[in-house]
Amino acid sequence: MAALQEKKSCSQRMEEFRHYCWNPDTGQMLGRTLSRWVWISLYYVAFYVVMTGLFALCIYVLMCTIDPYTPDYQDQLKSPGVTLRPDVYGDKGLDISYNISNNRTWTELTLTLHNFLAGYSPASQEDNINCTSHKYFFQESFRAPNHTKFSCKFTADMLQNCSGLVDPSFGFAEGKPCFIIKMNRIVRFLPSNSTAPRVDCAFLDQPHGDGRPLQVEYYPPNGTFSLHYFPYYGKKAQPHYSNPLVAAKFLNVPRNMQVVIVCKILADHVTFDNPHDPYEGKVEFKLKIQK
Ligand SMILES: *[C@@H]1O[C@H](CO)[C@@H](O)[C@H](O)[C@H]1NC(C)=O
Ligand SMILES: *[C@@H]1O[C@H](CO)[C@@H](O)[C@H](O)[C@H]1NC(C)=O
Ligand SMILES: *[C@@H]1O[C@H](CO)[C@@H](O)[C@H](O)[C@H]1NC(C)=O
Ligand SMILES: *[C@@H]1O[C@H](CO)[C@@H](O)[C@H](O)[C@H]1NC(C)=O
Ligand SMILES: *[C@@H]1O[C@H](CO)[C@@H](O)[C@H](O)[C@H]1NC(C)=O
Ligand SMILES: *[C@@H]1O[C@H](CO)[C@@H](O)[C@H](O)[C@H]1NC(C)=O
Ligand SMILES: *[C@@H]1O[C@H](CO)[C@@H](O)[C@H](O)[C@H]1NC(C)=O
Repeated sequence: MAALQEKKSCSQRMEEFRHYCWNPDTGQMLGRTLSRWVWISLYYVAFYVVMTGLFALCIYVLMCTIDPYTPDYQDQLKSPGVTLRPDVYGDKGLDISYNISNNRTWTELTLTLHNFLAGYSPASQEDNINCTSHKYFFQESFRAPNHTKFSCKFTADMLQNCSGLVDPSFGFAEGKPCFIIKMNRIVRFLPSNSTAPRVDCAFLDQPHGDGRPLQVEYYPPNGTFSLHYFPYYGKKAQPHYSNPLVAAKFLNVPRNMQVVIVCKILADHVTFDNPHDPYEGKVEFKLKIQK
């Protein structure tokens, strides 16, 4: 600061600046003549017009190659993930525990199930159609309203004793709780060659306690996801699609001890041995029922 003040006085600097802004000797304004300003402006206008045009062209070509109905990049997902309801997480993964004698410990769990199944009420499934074929439902054309494809209904009542309609406590009150298993969707995924994918639940470490295997009632019967819910064509083609579900009701979980249960999806094209993704093709959870 001091050095600058020594060199020039303030009025000198103001004068220099004014001279820079408008130089009457050369007719320059801010260092350039008017005509040079016009040329340089024109140059930049042309430059940006060309750049914008190139950018628009690139986006346009990209959009032409994109099919809005299928994702371009289906990442490494070849086998679907599996999720469980009710989903209470402990320190290490899913951890569900409750005390039969104390209904405050399980009303929250049944509420989770009721809320989840609200998406499967007849009203929310209204836009879907009844399917009975139990075969893959291939649809190449868009015959459903609004240029979409049909989706099959899945209503909570298909889960029978685990639907929350017959038994609003989902078996939690009697110590034979229902769990709902959902397979995540993958666009155009065909789970198997011919037979429907099936859920199979068992104790992780057998033999357990008294050595008896886990007894399970599956809903729908046999614990299958019917093939008519596949393939899934994506959110835009099937806006009302709902994942099919399987409920598993565990009949002989020992009391007052923690057990680990694993539910696997058995199908030709579903794997459950990926060490990097413990929820691929299977779901594992701890369960403790106190009394
Ligand atoms: C379960 O709840 C009942 C009633 O609240 C209580 O008496 C019992 O000790 C509880 N059991 C366990 C293992 O905490
Ligand atoms: C358990 O549920 C019954 C009704 O089902 C209710 O009357 C009672 O107050 C509940 N007990 C607790 C501890 O919440
Ligand atoms: C679908 O099935 C339900 C119950 O089975 C029935 O009430 C309904 O009328 C059927 N809808 C069509 C379009 O067939
Ligand atoms: C079709 O689209 C219109 C407008 O977006 C919507 O109001 C209507 O409910 C849709 N029909 C069906 C069957 O989804
Ligand atoms: C549903 O529960 C009732 C009463 O517990 C039982 O009698 C019936 O067998 C169950 N249904 C099925 C399909 O297991
Ligand atoms: C299913 O089909 C594929 C190819 O079409 C074949 O490689 C595979 O072995 C079949 N799997 C079973 C279990 O039949
Ligand atoms: C369940 O599976 C058995 C054999 O695996 C079969 O005989 C039976 O028809 C199946 N039941 C249903 C309802 O699909």
